[in-house]
Amino acid sequence: MKLEYRTDINEVTTGMLEGFFVGWPNPPSEEAHLRLLQGSSYRVIAFDREAGKVAGFITAVSDGVLSAYIPLLEVLPGYQGCGIGQELVRRMFVELDHLYMIDVCCDDDVVPFYERFGMHRTNGMILRNYDRQSGN
Ligand SMILES: CC(C)(COP(=O)(O)OP(=O)(O)OC[C@H]1O[C@@H](n2cnc3c(N)ncnc32)[C@H](O)[C@@H]1OP(=O)(O)O)[C@@H](O)C(=O)NCCC(=O)NCCS
Repeated sequence: MKLEYRTDINEVTTGMLEGFFVGWPNPPSEEAHLRLLQGSSYRVIAFDREAGKVAGFITAVSDGVLSAYIPLLEVLPGYQGCGIGQELVRRMFVELDHLYMIDVCCDDDVVPFYERFGMHRTNGMILRNYDRQSGN
């Protein structure tokens, strides 16, 4: 499978964004997904040109001075285990390497994945408005 990694999403349409937010009870629509990609300070996508779809994406929001937060990273189930997630993080860290703080919150099972990049556990506090989960 040949994938293109892109920071430019001008050619991405909603039809290329099917299948993400696996397991979310009230997932964002493809339209909301495109809006959040456009609204993020940084984004990297893995694009499967043959299939005409996005296979994985990562986003970051940043103050542009010291800090960035990575709210979303996902690789479609059919594309997982091929190194795509790792490459998305690697490329995002290149985008963010001028910053002091790069933070992510994740479930326990993903901790070993992020530790591979030199990240370490800390305390985090979160608030979730579940009635806003879809972004609409
Ligand atoms: C987490 C996720 C992005 C990983 O993407 P992926 O493309 O399957 O991962 P990769 O193939 O790049 O994995 C790279 C390496 O990390 C390892 N790895 C992947 N997921 C892992 C996990 N959850 N825990 C520990 N190691 C993991 C792989 O085994 C691989 O190791 P190897 O190089 O020794 O073979 C993907 O499983 C996913 O989208 N999960 C659902 C959404 C999610 O949990 N996102 C994170 C939100 S913070």
